[in-house]
Amino acid sequence: MKLIDELRAEHDIIDPMAGALRTYVARRVRGQADAADAPRFLAFFRLYADAFHHAREEGVLLPALARDLDVPSETGPIAAVLGDHVRMRATFAQLAALLGSELDAASGARLEQLATEYTRALWLHIDSENSVLFLESEHRLPRAGTHELPTRAPTDAEAAARDDATALLLRYPPLVDDGIIRGEGCPICPNFGVHCDGVERAWWNENEWDEFPDRVG
Ligand SMILES: [Fe+2]
Ligand SMILES: [Fe+2]
Repeated sequence: MKLIDELRAEHDIIDPMAGALRTYVARRVRGQADAADAPRFLAFFRLYADAFHHAREEGVLLPALARDLDVPSETGPIAAVLGDHVRMRATFAQLAALLGSELDAASGARLEQLATEYTRALWLHIDSENSVLFLESEHRLPRAGTHELPTRAPTDAEAAARDDATALLLRYPPLVDDGIIRGEGCPICPNFGVHCDGVERAWWNENEWDEFPDRVG
């Protein structure tokens, strides 16, 4: 499905850019990075990661799950993804206010804390979408008769923010491992058991439960 292929490819840019943001913040706090690069990071995460990428998940993919698969909206994967987006936006707004500012010891420590919080949330979010949301959507939507979903090209500003990632990744080599455990499947997702009860409970319908004994033999 073209939309999901595109969303996955976008994760492949957003994921290392989260690591580059961590490198940039660590250097900024030590006075070793140019404050003039802050707007470039802000443009990438606001325009490309949020206005382009998250907006198509929210505006196209999630509504298709509710409409075509009867996935509930108030709980489960739709609520989990939307809730992550809302929390990440709120964290990023605080981070953005500090990123290009003069930093003292207290504001520098706060900026590092916010960058850690934002990037960890983003990495776990990407893992859960890649390994559950996208896989289940690709598997189930065609069975419901939906073989493609609409997508769109990035605007000029969104494309420029994406293209600037190449230079930023070179200038600020991404932090790859900050100690969080990444992985696949529901158990790794912070929403599991909180906002979503996982694939079997949140995605399967009654017919699939009837088939379950046959599937597991
Ligand atoms: Fe998302
Ligand atoms: Fe995503």
